[in-house]
Amino acid sequence: MKGLLLAGGHGTRLRPLTYTGNKHMLPIANKPMLMYGFDQMRASGIREIGVILGPLQEGIVEALEDGSKFGVKVTYIAQPEPKGIAHAVLISKEFVGDSPFIVHLGDNLLKDNIPEFAREFLRSEADASVILTRVNDPERFGVVLLEEGRIIKLIEKPKQYISDLALAGVYFLRPTIFPIIEKLRPSRRNELEITDAIQKLLDLGGKITYHEVSGWWKDTGRPEDILEANQLVLKDLKTSIGGMIEHGVTVSGEVEVGEGTIVHSGATLRGPIVIGDHSEIGDGASVGPNTSLGSHVRILGATIENSIVLDGTVVDCRERIVDSIIGKNSRIISSLTSPSGGRRFVVGESTFVSL
Ligand code: DAU
Repeated sequence: MKGLLLAGGHGTRLRPLTYTGNKHMLPIANKPMLMYGFDQMRASGIREIGVILGPLQEGIVEALEDGSKFGVKVTYIAQPEPKGIAHAVLISKEFVGDSPFIVHLGDNLLKDNIPEFAREFLRSEADASVILTRVNDPERFGVVLLEEGRIIKLIEKPKQYISDLALAGVYFLRPTIFPIIEKLRPSRRNELEITDAIQKLLDLGGKITYHEVSGWWKDTGRPEDILEANQLVLKDLKTSIGGMIEHGVTVSGEVEVGEGTIVHSGATLRGPIVIGDHSEIGDGASVGPNTSLGSHVRILGATIENSIVLDGTVVDCRERIVDSIIGKNSRIISSLTSPSGGRRFVVGESTFVSL
C-alpha cells in the first residue's frame, strides 16, 4: 500500500500565519500539522509516501527530506495550482502505479485506528473506503447519504441539507479511481472533487465502505480549528521534563518541557501544556491550560491560556492572553515606556487583534 499526503492549496483562511510559512507546517502541540497524517500512514505500514506540494512549500522538504530518517521513502509531486483533491490524486498516478493507496489531507487530524482500517481495506473487495463523522455545519464539507447502512450518495459542500455525516479527509482508494478522475469535470469551485470521483465510482457499481470516527476528527481550516486541534492532541499528553523547573513553581496537570528550557520560581504551569526547547517562563508568569509554546519562547509576567506561540516569540507584559495564535519571532511587550501611553503595534497584513 502507498500513501499520498496532500500539502498543496492556498491556506488563505489562515493568513497572516501562512504568508511566511506553509499552513501544513503550523505546529499543533509542537508538531507540524502534516506530521499527524504522515505518522498515521507510517503506522499503517506504508513505506512509500507521495507528498503533494503547491507553490508555497516552505519548510516541508526541510522537515521530511527523503523520508529515510522516518523509515519511509518520500516522493515529492508538484501541483503548481490547487486544482482539487482529485487532481492531486490524478497527477500521482505514476507514483501510485498498481498499488492500493491512502489519501490523507495534510490539514486533517484524526484520532482513530487508521492502521486497522487500512488492513481491513486491503483484505476487502471494496473499491474505496471513507471515514465519516457527524458535524453541525455540513455545508462546509463533503457529505454522504446512507440508506440501510450503505452509502447511496456523496455531495461536496451541499447548499441544501441532505445529511450531517461529513467525509473526513482520509480516503482508501485503488488505481481504478484514475480513469474516473480522468473523465471528471471541474466543480462549481473549479476543482476536481474527490467526492464527485467517489460518487462516479458508486454510479458505476463500485463498492464503497466506510467507518464512523470513534475518536475525534479536526479539519484545521480556520484559526479556531487549530486551537481546538491543539486542545484535543494535548488531552493525551504525558508529563516529560527535559529542562529545568525551579523550586517554587506551581505545577498541575500534564506538562512537557523541552531541553534547555527554564521555568523560574514564582511561575505557574497549568497542564496540559507543551513547551519546546530553550524557552523561558519568568517569575509571575502563568502558562496553560491547553497551551503550546515553541522553542526559544520567553513568557515574562504574562498569563497565557488556550493558545499557541511559535518559535522565537517574546511576551513580556502583565496581560492575560487567551485563545491566541502568535506567529514566529514576535514581540508583545508592555507599553509603559511609550511616551503617549497608547498601544503600539507593528502588525502585518490580515492580522487579527482583539483588545
Ligand atoms: O476536511 C475534510 C474535507 O476536505 C472534506 O469533507 C471535503 O469533502 C473535501 O473536499 C475537503 O474539503 P476542503 O474544502 O476543506 O478542502 P481544502 O481545499 O481545504 O483542501 C484540503 C487539503 O488538501 C489541504 O490540506 C490542502 C490540500 N489540497 C487541496 C487542494 C484543493 C491540495 O494539496 N491540492 C489541492 O488542489
